[in-house]
Amino acid sequence: MLAIIGGSGLYKLDEVRQPVRLAVETPWGAPSDTLSRGVWGTREVLFIARHAQDHRVPPHRINYRANIWALREAGASEIVAVAAVGGIAPDCSPGVLVVPDQLIDYTSGREATFFDGAENKVAHVDFTEPYDAELRAALASSARRIGLPLIMGGVYGCTNGPRLETAAEINRMGRDGCTLVGMTGMPEAVLARELGLPYACLAVVANAAAGLASSSESVSMDAIMTTLTRSMNDVRRLLAELCEAATAPRD
Ligand code: HPA
Repeated sequence: MLAIIGGSGLYKLDEVRQPVRLAVETPWGAPSDTLSRGVWGTREVLFIARHAQDHRVPPHRINYRANIWALREAGASEIVAVAAVGGIAPDCSPGVLVVPDQLIDYTSGREATFFDGAENKVAHVDFTEPYDAELRAALASSARRIGLPLIMGGVYGCTNGPRLETAAEINRMGRDGCTLVGMTGMPEAVLARELGLPYACLAVVANAAAGLASSSESVSMDAIMTTLTRSMNDVRRLLAELCEAATAPRD
């Protein structure tokens, strides 16, 4: 079953038929919100709003372990994570959709593993390729079929938030090779890897990252939300096509 994690601007999927709400408890505590399970196109899907439907959970307070555990518990076999980001690379302008192939983790103080030592075993998962190639390819071919522009590849730099970055931080991240900046990509991606769940990120560029916009010096939340609302239409079209795919991978 495909699981979709909705980020800022994507709080529910009205397209899903016969939706059932699931309250899942996990050994790691409560997920951000109840899950929703239903049918979209040819597939059964699960959905969770990462920040909750009323957007009350900030990035650094999200219980990423509970969210990923709950999705697996409810039957997820793979995850597409929708995430609002700032664009750093020149082609990552507001409104553009990107499927990154790498990430750099700048977060701190987050519960970032299921393998915590205690009664769990010590484990070091391979994370050379943080995103699942097959799922990324499925997103690419879905976008092609509906003629939706999609940038394939890029480096997601994950900051802690909730504040936005300084211009110097973005400058440094650009030199590190980041093409996108967001606040929720980690530890979400590695937790999915630890549970063996293929995971891909569908990033929606909401704004030019700090210091990069020519027209204004600051990043405004209003502008971010306006762009996101507009782009979610494209996200929904892409996810709808992914769910229609006759050769649904791995379920
Ligand atoms: N920085 C970090 N996270 C974000 C941004 C940004 O500029 N835009 C949307 N999420």
